[in-house]
Amino acid sequence: MSLINRIDPNRLPAHVAIIMDGNGRWAKTRGLERGEGHKEGIASVRKVVEAARKLAIPYLTLYAFSTENWDRPAEEVSGLMDLMVHAIAKETEGLKKNDVKVHCIGDVERLPNYARTALDECIRETESGTALNVVFALSYSSRWELTQSTQQIVREVMSGKLRESDIDEETLANRLTTSGMPNPDLLIRTGGELRISNFLLWQCAYSEFYFTDTYWPDFGEEDFYQAILEFQGRERRYGKTSEQLESLTPSKDSSTNND
Ligand code: IPE
Ligand code: IPE
Ligand code: MG
Repeated sequence: MSLINRIDPNRLPAHVAIIMDGNGRWAKTRGLERGEGHKEGIASVRKVVEAARKLAIPYLTLYAFSTENWDRPAEEVSGLMDLMVHAIAKETEGLKKNDVKVHCIGDVERLPNYARTALDECIRETESGTALNVVFALSYSSRWELTQSTQQIVREVMSGKLRESDIDEETLANRLTTSGMPNPDLLIRTGGELRISNFLLWQCAYSEFYFTDTYWPDFGEEDFYQAILEFQGRERRYGKTSEQLESLTPSKDSSTNND
C-alpha cells in the first residue's frame, strides 16, 4: 500500500524544497559516467512533481544547479546545460497539462543563451498554471541572493525611496528571489550529506530538515511521501515550549516573504 494513504491532508507543508544530490555517486557505483546519473535524475524530478501534485502541495523548489557548481569541469557543466534544455523542452507540455507553473530563482544571466531561452519559454508557457508551483533553483546560491538583495536595498536608500529606519525583515524578504512564496516548511536532501550547501539560508530559518542517504536518481514517489510523513510527526515550536503550543493557536512561520 502506498504511504500516501497515511498522510494527513490537513497538515501538509505549503512548500517543500529539495537538494537533489547524489547523481554522480549513483553513476559511479554502476561504473557509469557522472552524466548518466544526471540523466537518470530527471526521472526523479518527474516523480516528485507528480507526488507533490497528487498531494496538492502548493510549492516545490528543486535545487538543480548552484553558483558553486559553475566550478565543476567544463564538460560536466555543458553536459548539464544540454540536459536541462532537453528536459525542459520535453516536459513543458506535460507540465502545462498538469496545471503546473514553473518559476526559476538564481543568477540566470550566467546561463548560456540557449538555456536561458528554453527556460524563459517554459516559464511563459506555464504561466497560467494554478495547481502546483515548481521553482527551479538554477545558478542559485543564498549568499549571491542575499548580496544582491542588500545591494538593491542600498540603492533604494540612496535614492530616497526607502528610509533606513523602515528596514525590517520583510524589507529583505520582499527583495529575495523567493518574494511572494511561502518559506519552505520541509527541506529534503538526498545523497547522504548533512549540509545545506548555500541553499535558501534565510528562508529555511524554521524549516524542518530531512536527510536521506538515497541518491537522487533512486528517489521516487514513496520516498517523498516518507519525508512528508516524518515531517508530520515533528513538533514545530518556533522557540516556544510544548506547553505553550498546546494552549495557543498553532504558530506558523509568519515570515512568508510577501506578507
Ligand atoms: C547533484 O548531484 C546534481 C548537481 C549538483 C548538479 P551531484 O552531481 O552533486 O552528485 P554527487 O554528489 O557527486 O554524487
Ligand atoms: C548541492 O549539491 C547543489 C545541488 C544539488 C544543485 P553539491 O553536490 O554541489 O553540494 P556539495 O558540494 O556536496 O556541498
Ligand atoms: Mg553532490
